[in-house]
Amino acid sequence: MRSVLDPAGPQAAHIAALWWWMFWIFSTVFVLVIAALLVGIFRARARDDAVMTSPSVALQPTRERRIGWTVAACVGLTIVVLIIFLAANVITGHRLALLAADNAVTIQLTGYRWWWKVRYPDPVPARQVTTANEIHIPIGRPVLINTDSQDVIHSFWVPSLHGKRDLVPGNPSAIWIQADRPGRFEGQCAEFCGLQHAHMRLLVIAESEENYQAWLEAQRQAARAPSDPLAQRGLHVFETGPCALCHSVRGTEASGQVAPDLTHFASRATIAAGTLPNSPGHLAAWIVDPQHIKPGNAMPSNSLSPEDLQALLAYLGGLK
Ligand code: CUA
Repeated sequence: MRSVLDPAGPQAAHIAALWWWMFWIFSTVFVLVIAALLVGIFRARARDDAVMTSPSVALQPTRERRIGWTVAACVGLTIVVLIIFLAANVITGHRLALLAADNAVTIQLTGYRWWWKVRYPDPVPARQVTTANEIHIPIGRPVLINTDSQDVIHSFWVPSLHGKRDLVPGNPSAIWIQADRPGRFEGQCAEFCGLQHAHMRLLVIAESEENYQAWLEAQRQAARAPSDPLAQRGLHVFETGPCALCHSVRGTEASGQVAPDLTHFASRATIAAGTLPNSPGHLAAWIVDPQHIKPGNAMPSNSLSPEDLQALLAYLGGLK
C-alpha cells in the first residue's frame, strides 16, 4: 500500500488531516467561484438586453458601490483563508516534530544508486544488523531514522508513515516515523537520482514488538553454513567469484561493502530494491544479466556455467 491518504502512523495522520482540510475548503472555494462566474455571465446578458431598450440603466452609482464592496469582501476572505492555512501548516509542522523520543528504535539509512542500506546500530558491534531495502519496525514505538547518502541526493518517502526527507551526501539528517498498525508500507525514492530512480523502492514492515525482536535476533546471526553439497558448491562460487568483491555474507569470506549485505538475503521479499520479487527464477535472471533488468546499476553481468548458477541459487536461497 502506498498512499498519503492511507495513514498508518501519527505523522502521516496529521499530514492527511491537513490534506483533507485543504481539499474541502479549496473545493468549496472553487464551487463558489464557478457559481459567481455563472451568475455574472447570466446577469451581464440580462443587463445587455436592458441597455438595448433603455440606455438610462447603464449608469448606476449604488450598483457600482455594491460591486466594489463585494470585491473587497472576497479579497478579504481570500486573505483570511490563506492565513488559516498558514496557521494550519505551522501547527501540522509542530505536531510532526512531537514524537516522544523515549524507547525509540534507531536506524541508519544510507542511499546508494539505486538501493538503500539499512543498519541497526548496537553498542556491541557483533550485534549490529545490516540489511537492504526492507526496514522492519515495531508498531507503537517511535523510530529515529538517521539518513545519509553515498553518492547523490536521494529522498526517503513512505507515504503511509510520513512526508519526504532528503538524503544529502555529506549532510546527515534524520526523520522520525511511527506505525500504529502492522502492515507492509511501500516507499519510494522521491528525488530524481539518475537512470534507475524509479527502481529505488523500499518496504517498511511494521510488526508486533515480539515479531520485530525475533526478526532482529535472527538478523544478528551470521549466515548458517550450507549443509547440502549443491549449496556448498554455491558458497564456493560466491566466495571465489566476483560476488564477494562487492557483497558481504557475515560468517563467510565475502566481505564486500559497496553492495547490499546478503547475510539473510532469502528473508527479503524483493531483489534489486523492489524491482523483482525474490524468487529463484528472477534471481537467476538478475545474476546473469542485471544490466538488462536495471540498466546502469553497479552490478556487472556474470557468465556462470549452468551448474554454478544452480549452485549459487541454492546457496542464496538458503540464506534465511
Ligand atoms: Cu534515489 Cu531517486
